[in-house]
Amino acid sequence: MKDQITATQTEALARIGEVEDARSLEDARVAILGKQGSLTQLSAGMRDVPKEEKAEVGQLLNAARQAITSALEEKKAGLQAIADAKALEGIDLTLPPRPLHGGSLHPLTLIRDEAIQILRRMGFALAEGPEIEDEFHCFDALNTPEDHPARNEKDTFYFDSGKLLRTHTSSVQVRTMETEKPPVRIIAPGSAYRRDEIDATHLSVFNQLEGLYVDTDVSLGDLKGTLEYFFHELFGPETDVRFRPHFFPFTEPSFEIDVKLHVKGQAPKWIEVAGCGMVDPAVFESIDGNRKDDAFDPAAVTGFAFGMGLDRLAMIRWGIKDIRLLIENDVRFLKQFA
Ligand code: PHE
Repeated sequence: MKDQITATQTEALARIGEVEDARSLEDARVAILGKQGSLTQLSAGMRDVPKEEKAEVGQLLNAARQAITSALEEKKAGLQAIADAKALEGIDLTLPPRPLHGGSLHPLTLIRDEAIQILRRMGFALAEGPEIEDEFHCFDALNTPEDHPARNEKDTFYFDSGKLLRTHTSSVQVRTMETEKPPVRIIAPGSAYRRDEIDATHLSVFNQLEGLYVDTDVSLGDLKGTLEYFFHELFGPETDVRFRPHFFPFTEPSFEIDVKLHVKGQAPKWIEVAGCGMVDPAVFESIDGNRKDDAFDPAAVTGFAFGMGLDRLAMIRWGIKDIRLLIENDVRFLKQFA
């Protein structure tokens, strides 16, 4: 029995030594240690070993098993090392790695988030509404009569159903006033659509952010302070901001807001960034007429509203000369914001 064990061990180690690939190593393992393996069968012979020899033979068997097991492991590691070396053959480990291209937020997202943050600090909450609107919410409720040019088919995208793509997010202000009571302090960022000829400063879809504040005693001073603060936060405290009288059907008085733009090597120039004004009492009346109550009684509440184009703000912030860059998704442009 002892001789058999020694012989089996020698034979097993020799076989393992000759193995050259993982498959034959596994075959060898099964042939030696598997159910029908040579060493396993020898172990079964323990039964017939006389009692007084059992300890010695058992030890010998264990030693053989251990020697074989470690030979198998060693061979396995050796084969793996050879395989690894082969896989690396011809690879130049001193080459610099390829650069990783991280993604980044789109400039419009960046400017929108920043604008929202500033306004939220002043207590404005986010509001939403549909992009496919009806004429009532887009125009009628906003004191914009049937013959107003903004309602012209040349300026607005109409569906056959009579619905339209909203020309501004002021419709969200109307929807908010339909369901809430003063005080109302909301901002509505979102897409707006106009039939504009596409060029460096116009697209047929742009990104607006409008706001509305209605309460008792909201004044023109509140409007001016709020928006001046907003543009100082966005463009820096030294930015000149001016309010220029204008006309909107839904506000009275109305203004356009300009900021003074300083471009190196050019004379500073005023650029329009927003429209605003005190909500026209006629708007409140039409809201109340629809609500069938007097929540927005123009004798009791006042309010201001404003609207701005985020695309324009992004163009100013980063000196982008062509608005089309904002929708072309050219990586060479976008990666500058990473
Ligand atoms: N709705 C106007 C526009 O789209 C902007 C605006 C909003 C003006 C609120 C005044 C008050 O041009």
